[in-house]
Amino acid sequence: MTGVTGSGSARFQVAPGGRLAGELTVPGDKSISHRALMLGGVASGDTRISGFLAGEDCLATARALAALGVAIERPGETEVVVHGVGPRGFSAPDANLDLGNAGTAMRLLTGLLAPQRFNSTLVGDASLMRRPMQRVVAPLEMMGARIRTHDGRPPVEIRGTPRLRAIHYSLPVASAQVKSAVLLAALNAAGRTHITEPAPSRDHTERMLGAFGAKIEREGRSITFDGGQTLRGAHVTVPADFSSAAFFLVAGCLAADQGLLLRNVGVNPTRTGLLELLQRMGADIRVHPHTASGAPHAEPVADIEVHQSALRGITVPESLVPLAIDELPVFFIAAACASGETLVRGALELRVKESDRLEAVATGLATLGVEHELLPDGMWLRGAQAFSGGSIDSRGDHRIAMAFAVAALRARAAIEIADVANVATSFPGFVASARIVGLAVEQL
Ligand code: S3P
Repeated sequence: MTGVTGSGSARFQVAPGGRLAGELTVPGDKSISHRALMLGGVASGDTRISGFLAGEDCLATARALAALGVAIERPGETEVVVHGVGPRGFSAPDANLDLGNAGTAMRLLTGLLAPQRFNSTLVGDASLMRRPMQRVVAPLEMMGARIRTHDGRPPVEIRGTPRLRAIHYSLPVASAQVKSAVLLAALNAAGRTHITEPAPSRDHTERMLGAFGAKIEREGRSITFDGGQTLRGAHVTVPADFSSAAFFLVAGCLAADQGLLLRNVGVNPTRTGLLELLQRMGADIRVHPHTASGAPHAEPVADIEVHQSALRGITVPESLVPLAIDELPVFFIAAACASGETLVRGALELRVKESDRLEAVATGLATLGVEHELLPDGMWLRGAQAFSGGSIDSRGDHRIAMAFAVAALRARAAIEIADVANVATSFPGFVASARIVGLAVEQL
């Protein structure tokens, strides 16, 4: 197996305190970049992706598509052209498809590959090999797919089954990855697929299918999608990733006394739960939306201005948890710096991300001396004006590493963070970006 996990020696050293100022454009959205590659791959004609996230996760998706016979060019660092091969145009890969650390790649590709005429096997790094895949396999099997896993975990061995059937599926958990895997399989299934979500999850797949010319009906939490539709290649402009901007939104609340501007950020409402959480805590955050393109499926984009604010602890409404799921690690850091108590429940999903993020955050907070209680599906904690420094184990999880780098703004001594190589999966250039706006992080 290859991938960046395992190169556990890379670490961050973050000096305590400091101020943030200036402006920043963080790299492109990971979820949208994966989807643009995949839909581009199965579309007819070419797809141009501008603002592509050249992070390890999306590069793993690009390599997998290349192994399936899709020609992909990269005329610039963040410019990609995908020469679509059409819905049945993939060719059998010569070897296992290695998706590194990328859960989105593995789950969405399982949906795309289940109805192909050939077999394929998906593997990944040590973290990905531990992650649950049954949630994707279950609905795909209802469609007639034949997939083997090891106790619900990778490797995912797919026996291509070209005659999948449409299903009616009610998702047991709000998961955009499961929803998207079913939609991608449904593209090559006979009949009309209906999906219902228990709560809204990110809707990039639905929007992008529309942008590629497919007809997709959405009403409330239900989606209806006819199989056999042909996608037309499109031009996808990827906004900056809200999940990467999140670290600087929290950092700005802690230390941007003159304000900090984050440019061109994707503000799809299925992603921006953190904005509402921080605003409920008293954050001074101003969203300046760009003019909408007019296209019905376009992703909304805004510049976001954040000013240092006195944060207060809150009880997080469970309905906001899926809308802030990837931002909860850094939200816990905001809560640790707020006055009073914060409670998060209904976040069991955090235990099956790139690491068990509840455990990872709780262990880190213990190191910093923040009073907290780890709960089965969340955490209670009491904020502090300042905390100690110390050594944090990121567990090879990019978002844990970046969240604790932000925590240094309130630490009395340096914070050292181990096993940070995977930051490159979602935020290549994090250290340089952080330093530009004043977060004193160094990679050792
Ligand atoms: C993602 C969906 C979410 C999120 C992940 C990216 C996507 O996962 O946590 O980082 O691109 O569809 P779940 O579908 O498991 O909630």
